[in-house]
Amino acid sequence: MKPTDPNTQDLIRLAIAASEKAYAPYSHYPVGAALRAADGMIYTGCNVENAAYPATICAERTALVKAVSEGQRRFDTLAVVTRSGGAPCGVCRQMLYEFAPDLQVIIADLDGNIRAACLLTDLLPNGFGPQHLE
Ligand code: THU
Repeated sequence: MKPTDPNTQDLIRLAIAASEKAYAPYSHYPVGAALRAADGMIYTGCNVENAAYPATICAERTALVKAVSEGQRRFDTLAVVTRSGGAPCGVCRQMLYEFAPDLQVIIADLDGNIRAACLLTDLLPNGFGPQHLE
């Protein structure tokens, strides 16, 4: 899916809407994600922080866990939005790799400007995955 594709723009819009639900009283850094499954269904997520800081879950993992818990296992595109165009953290990269090593990742800001478009394997080269445990 190309960055200019209207579907990409929809995904970014959904990620921005999700970021408005962020619970981020500690970092004040809202993040939104929209993850498209192979069947076209889209799952959104925001970061949900916790007073015990490490218990925080990122927006990308919120979206992924929502989707997997609904029976989804294959994904093609993720949009993630932050005010600074930050890329998914290492833990999120690893969790996404489990299900979608070929994932296209769109990184945008809260105004919808695309800051980067790449593959998950660019963000996590030579990743460890289920195949290593066979
Ligand atoms: N955060 C995400 O939601 N996704 C990332 O990939 C990077 C970080 C959140 C976690 C925390 O709530 C805030 O951003 C600051 O780290």
